[in-house]
Amino acid sequence: MNRLFRTKSIADLQANLEEGEATGHLKRTLSGFDLVMLGIGAVIGAGIFSTLGTAAVGEPGVRLGAGPALVVSFVLLGAVCVLAGLCYAELTAMIPIAGSAYTYAYATLGEAVAWIIGWDLMLEYAVGNIAVAIAWSDYFCSFLRVFGVDLPLWLTTSYRNVVQAYPHRLAELPTLWGLPIAINVPGIVILGLVTWVLAIGIKESSRVNNLMVVLKLVVLALFVGVGFFYIDTSNWRPFAPNGWAGIHQGAAIVFFAYIGFDAISTAAEETKDPQRNMPIGILGALAICTVIYAIVGLVATGIVPYTELKGSDPLARAFEVRGVAWMHLILALGAVISMTAVLLVFQLGQTRIFYSMSRDGLLPTWFRRIHPRFGTPLGSTIWTGVLVAVGCCIFDDDETYDLTNIGTLFAFLVVCLGVLALRLKDPDRPRPFRVPYVWVVAPLGAAACVYTMAGLPWIAWYRFGGWMALGAVVYFAYGYWNSVLGRRTAAPPG
Ligand code: ALA
Repeated sequence: MNRLFRTKSIADLQANLEEGEATGHLKRTLSGFDLVMLGIGAVIGAGIFSTLGTAAVGEPGVRLGAGPALVVSFVLLGAVCVLAGLCYAELTAMIPIAGSAYTYAYATLGEAVAWIIGWDLMLEYAVGNIAVAIAWSDYFCSFLRVFGVDLPLWLTTSYRNVVQAYPHRLAELPTLWGLPIAINVPGIVILGLVTWVLAIGIKESSRVNNLMVVLKLVVLALFVGVGFFYIDTSNWRPFAPNGWAGIHQGAAIVFFAYIGFDAISTAAEETKDPQRNMPIGILGALAICTVIYAIVGLVATGIVPYTELKGSDPLARAFEVRGVAWMHLILALGAVISMTAVLLVFQLGQTRIFYSMSRDGLLPTWFRRIHPRFGTPLGSTIWTGVLVAVGCCIFDDDETYDLTNIGTLFAFLVVCLGVLALRLKDPDRPRPFRVPYVWVVAPLGAAACVYTMAGLPWIAWYRFGGWMALGAVVYFAYGYWNSVLGRRTAAPPG
């Protein structure tokens, strides 16, 4: 029992880092600006380009939509994320080591909780990227269609997605021994490319990311700039067709749009002067994205009646409905670029979490091997690519969004509680960034995460429970016996 709740001291974490420096640790190349760009790269993607529609309109029998009040959902979510983001910033600046919430949990709440979080974070990064890869593929096909290229459905998505999103097209799938077949080929190809970029080095990845961030900001600026002239204020009435319940449940799915600012913290070990640059990266990216989302939400629901936003490409649809075809092309291209950046940052985050867990002995050693020339964890980069590529050939996007959201909100909750635990446990350790009014901000952040989770459909809760139960089995089969901390404490003194 003691072993389950044993925590790594911060001195232990620092020792890890120094030991890593002597062996083959990750290179410190990222600046504060790179981090803000990395954050925007991770944040703006499928959430704003795709889940915005479901959040505004709702799904019969599953959730209510926010309608034009989506802008309220966005602003409130921005506030929730600022609360959690402040807690992230305190911990990342204090513990600048790869591994995000997993590492913080190990330092604050013990090995068992750290494992739970590490396992849970797979929902945010790997499962989140499955959803993004599915949406990427949808937008890519929509982009090709502008040029008259129509790929067969069975080569562009998963079977489950066809059942959920296009049940009327099931007959188009070929069969093998009576079983319908569908493979997400565009998803596999883009994940292959992203994996290659990540494998050759973090600095190269960050340069590619910066370029994609600029492009996605230009496309969203264009959406707002052109959309402004098509706003019909009567579309904003009724403002909140499903009242508070719609705003709440809409927020629970569109929360996906905010996920990612915390991915910055997973690159702490590759950041120059992390004590200063981590808080700049997290809070800067969050502030910029909240403003952009609120404006895009307002413009999208102003261009057309919100019910027209149903579907996986709501921003493009808004212009299609208003007969502005050229904007459809630009938005499809913008969405593809934005989501590529998200794929890149999330794959990066997942491999760094695997790396940290492996360094602690909770996962096998090959997850932490650094390639001598590229300086990246090559094995875990490739395996993460394979895992997500297989996932995007199996799952459906909406269920994947919900599962990602619940997992991420749970991680945020632990971070909010962790910051308090560490203030109590280690009050004198230098904190380059301190959460202001921490005894108000952190509990409020924790409560806000739980409340947002409560807006998700019950099926997401069941799936989340199943995933965590599987994690417990894996931990007791491997991590419990191989934990570096566990072995060290079990060894006789001297
Ligand atoms: N926030 C990221 C996106 O919307 C996950 O794609």
